[in-house]
Amino acid sequence: MACPSGGDDPMKALRIGNYNVAPVVEDVPTPDISPGEVLVRIKAASLNPLDVKLQRGFMHAFFPLAFPYILGTDLVGTVEYAGSDVNRWRKGDEVLARLDPTSGGAFAEFAVVRDDYLVSVPKKVSLEEAAGIPTAAGTAWQALFEVADLKRGQRVLVHAGAGGVGSFAIQFARSVGAHVIATASGTGIDIARRLGADQVIDYRSENFVNKVSDIDVVLDTIGGETQQRSFNVLRSGGYLLATSAPPDEALAKAHNVAASFVFHASDRSRLEKIVEAIDASSLKVLVDQKVSSLDLAQAFEHQASGRARGKIIVTFD
Ligand SMILES: NC(=O)c1ccc[n+]([C@@H]2O[C@H](COP(=O)([O-])OP(=O)(O)OC[C@H]3O[C@@H](n4cnc5c(N)ncnc54)[C@H](OP(=O)(O)O)[C@@H]3O)[C@@H](O)[C@H]2O)c1
Repeated sequence: MACPSGGDDPMKALRIGNYNVAPVVEDVPTPDISPGEVLVRIKAASLNPLDVKLQRGFMHAFFPLAFPYILGTDLVGTVEYAGSDVNRWRKGDEVLARLDPTSGGAFAEFAVVRDDYLVSVPKKVSLEEAAGIPTAAGTAWQALFEVADLKRGQRVLVHAGAGGVGSFAIQFARSVGAHVIATASGTGIDIARRLGADQVIDYRSENFVNKVSDIDVVLDTIGGETQQRSFNVLRSGGYLLATSAPPDEALAKAHNVAASFVFHASDRSRLEKIVEAIDASSLKVLVDQKVSSLDLAQAFEHQASGRARGKIIVTFD
């Protein structure tokens, strides 16, 4: 379906032509919409480690890409054009969405978004900060509340408390009255404390296994030996939630704990609950840096470093 901004007008977009090639900002045609879709003028988007994994081809089995591929899943913007069968949105409405990783498209001036993926932006955080919400907050929420059913009074260990997922996980866990312990290093230690962690362990100088025990839920965003050691701090019957590497089933059995790999799936109703929770509280989006779309390629490298303190936000004004 042709729309006023679609077709021949060029837009800037961060694309890759194949796996493992550097992303490049290029002029590409502004996309057209199909029935049930909305053209969104993007104000800001956020990076995730997933973008790096997609670019490197690590996710090919789950999310095979068709090239050229415009990177980016998390965006905020305004409705530019809503298809004739779309009734919920009007031109100018401020919207938030997570795109399917296989289609991508958030690192561009415009994106085509399915109507049923769009939610209204939160009021308590800026439009730019809101771009940091969908994948990181969605994963933390899915893990803590949908997989583990975290409750008041439970003890949770959040690895990488100053990361994208960890920064939301600390706040979500605190918001239900859990006792939160986080791992971090350097400036991340103070950040994790300020986000609400009751205890922060410097993972570079201390072995968390010697500092905590009787944990009900571990959110492991690291994998490897961090995950292996995490089994030692769980109480019998506790829960290990892994986002980076599938949990070792044999170790889970040996420690008499449950363990799941949390595979974040876009879900509008979850995103709406997160927006409600943000508007009803003092939950923050931890921002590592805001960069202009002109600096997107460097921002991508920073995300790839694994050292970000929260979300890297890319603006498109
Ligand atoms: N399965 C899914 O659906 C799903 C969804 C979302 C994310 N993920 C995955 O989950 C992982 C985390 O995502 P994210 O967005 O939170 O990443 P991120 O924001 O890039 O995490 C960066 C943070 O990790 C910290 N960190 C690095 N190594 C650490 C260690 N050994 N112990 C404690 N902290 C450490 C860094 O702190 P320092 O600089 O102090 O080291 C940094 O603050 C990634 O692998 C991502 O791909 C998976």
